[in-house]
Parts: sequence; structure tokens; C-alpha cells
Amino acid sequence: MKNILVTGGAGFIGSNFIHYMLGKYTDIKVVNLDALTYSGNLENLSAVADDPRYTFVKGDICDQSLLDNLFKKYLFDTVVNFAAESHVDRSITDPQIFVTTNVLGTQTLLDVTRANWNLNPKDKYSRKYKDAVRFLHISTDEVYGALGTVGKFTELSPLAPNSPYSASKASSDMMVRAYHVTYGLPVNITRCSNNYGPYQFPEKLIPLMINNCLKNKPLPVYGDGMQIRDWLYVVDHCSAIDTVLRKGIVGEVYNIGGNNEKANIEIVKLIIQKLGKSEDLITYVADRPGHDRRYAIDNSKITTQLGWSPAYTFEQGIEQTINWYLTHTHWIERVVVGSYQDYYQRMYPD
Ligand code: NAD
Ligand code: DAU
Repeated sequence: MKNILVTGGAGFIGSNFIHYMLGKYTDIKVVNLDALTYSGNLENLSAVADDPRYTFVKGDICDQSLLDNLFKKYLFDTVVNFAAESHVDRSITDPQIFVTTNVLGTQTLLDVTRANWNLNPKDKYSRKYKDAVRFLHISTDEVYGALGTVGKFTELSPLAPNSPYSASKASSDMMVRAYHVTYGLPVNITRCSNNYGPYQFPEKLIPLMINNCLKNKPLPVYGDGMQIRDWLYVVDHCSAIDTVLRKGIVGEVYNIGGNNEKANIEIVKLIIQKLGKSEDLITYVADRPGHDRRYAIDNSKITTQLGWSPAYTFEQGIEQTINWYLTHTHWIERVVVGSYQDYYQRMYPD
């Protein structure tokens, strides 16, 4: 793992991952390919912008010739594919871009990767690749659909995606799997639960609630607020990805989660309490169509087989996250101008 292509590295998890990797390893080079959609923000990476080990390229994972040029120029041995449309609510109003980026983009990236890593790419039977190369696709627990009140998702749970977002992620997972089975491409897929932490775009539950609390705006809770998510601090997701890159068995899927289930309303009340606000701000709004009731990750494969475990408790992670937003008000103020206001009006009409 020397020359890493990170796609979608200007987003929430991708930027945290780049900081994590450059902080941990001295001998790596990272190229961040990001289209800078509404959720991509170079400010997330300002601290490493001048680091000689880091290069930013603005571009789309659907752009085959750009990808090919990058492979020829930087000789990547590792690809970590974060680039995606990532928000369920946006997928409900505009599903098509989710198919374009998440499915076609991933397939384009797989194609170019295979062409550059296979020792004889013109031969459809060739399964010989350069040494020590790996394609890691970042997926989500949402591909498994929704759980009832008991049980957890294992890597063997059937895929049953319920939103256009999760359907597009499940489709991309299937494409990654197919490139492994058909062409022998050395891949892994990780499926993580809900992340929270610095640099998360405030369309997602935790930063949205923090931002609204700080401005004394209503806190829009969907339905009864009793939907359950399994929360993981983003740095723990990054350490899990690093673990899979170093120790993952080729072709395997790894679930990532920290056994931390919470109902949405619990999270909202905790943020209110930490920020010293009133629960009167809570406003129950119409539920998200097709809303998954509960997610929970069985992480025993990655913990027992690869020796990964989360380093942060939820209490530590949420404390750090709230403090980060409190000390980075300039970041959030720059993010919530312009198109965010239009989005907010559309999503949460008065
Ligand atoms: P994000 O929306 O914050 O970031 C996505 C990034 O991808 C942005 O920088 C955006 O500009 C870039 N991008 C979008 N389309 C692109 C394209 N066509 N070409 C190149 N770049 C493009 O999302 P995130 O929360 O950081 O999620 C990253 C990945 O992790 C996604 O694949 C998501 O499905 C997965 N994931 C997210 C979570 C979570 O809780 N946020 C949990 C599990 C898995
Ligand atoms: O589980 C992993 C997934 O987690 C990732 O794959 C997605 O990229 C990521 O966006 C996240 O999806 P969710 O839909 O779970 O996250 P979101 O923050 O949008 O919502 C979390 C829960 O909070 C969900 O039950 C919906 C609810 N919610 C969300 C918003 C934005 C509200 O009640 N009100 C809101 O305003």
C-alpha cells in the first residue's frame, strides 16, 4: 500500500480517511479524485493541501479517460472508492444521479482498474494481476434493508435495499463482486453502519440537529423518532478500512460497526442536552417514505478475523463531534449558504 487512489476524498468519510492515513503512514502517496458535488469540500483537507504526499484532482469517477490517465501517471496499487451520492432523502427526490455515480461510476472505476492491474487485460481468461494490488469498495449496512426489533446484519444477510440510495449501493456491490468472480480482480467490500464526526455535511441527522440547535431552529424528527441506527465514530471507520486494506482476505466482505444502537429521538435529546437547549425545539414531521426501522451490525467477522475494534465509545465520539462543530462554526457557516438553503426549504417546508 504505497500509491492510493481515494475517490470522493473531499466528502465526510473520505476526508477523515485521508487525514487518518497521512497521519499514520509516512511512506504513502494519496491522490484524491473528487467531483466536488454539493457535499465535497476542499476546506476539509486544507491542513494537508501542501503535503507533498497528497494530490487533489477534480474529476468524476464516470470519466474513463481521466481515470486511465491517473492510473498511468500515479501507478496506483490501492483504490478506495468512497465517491458516491450518499443521502437517502436526496435519492427519494432524484434517484437518477444515484444510479449514474454509484453504479455506473463504480463500474467505470472497476473497468479502468482491471485494465491497469491485469497483466494481460485483453485476455478475458487472464486472472493474473500486479503484486499487492487491492480495490476496496466502501459500502453500507443499508444494502441489507431493515431489521425488526431483534437480530443483526451479518455478511451473509440477504441484500434487500429499500431506498434508491441503498439499491444503488447494493448494485455497485454486486458489480464489485462480479469483477472479482469473473475477472479475479482483488477486491474487498466493507459495509459500515451510520458514521458521525467532523466534516459531516449538515443534511445528515447529527450535524443537522447540532446546526439547528445552535440557531434555535426546529429539530425535524421523522415519524415517531423511534427508528434505530448503529452509530460509529468516523475515525473508527477509518481504522477499520485501514485494517481491511492491510489484512483483508481477497474477495471478502466485512461489516463494520461498534455495537451502538440508538433511537433517533435519543440522539436528538442528547444533542439538545449537551448544547443546553430546550426540547420544545423538537418538531415531529412526516416520515421518510420507505424509512428503514432499524439497522444493527454484527461485527464479529472483522473483530475476530482481522483483530479490529473501535477505539471510541459513543460518549467520547459525540463529545468530540459536538466540540468540533462548536469550534468550527466558520466551516458550517460556509457550508449552509446558497444551495443548502434551497435544499432545506425543499426538504423541510415551513
Ligand atoms: P459524502 O456525501 O460526504 O461524500 C461523497 C463525496 O463523493 C463528495 O466529496 C462528492 O463530491 C464525491 N462525489 C460524488 N459523486 C462523485 C463522482 N461522480 N465522482 C467523484 N466524486 C464524487 O458521503 P460520505 O458520508 O462521506 O460517504 C462516503 C461513502 O461511504 C459513500 O460511498 C457512502 O455510501 C459510504 N457510507 C457512508 C456512511 C455514512 O454514515 N455517512 C456509512 C456507511 C457507508
Ligand atoms: O447506515 C449507513 C448510512 O447512514 C449511510 O449509508 C448513508 O450514506 C448515511 O447517510 C446514513 O443514512 P441514514 O438515512 O441512516 O442517515 P441520516 O442521517 O439521513 O438519518 C439518520 C436517521 O435520522 C434516519 O432514521 C432518518 C432520521 N432523520 C434524518 C434527518 C436528516 C430525521 O429524523 N430527521 C432528519 O432531519
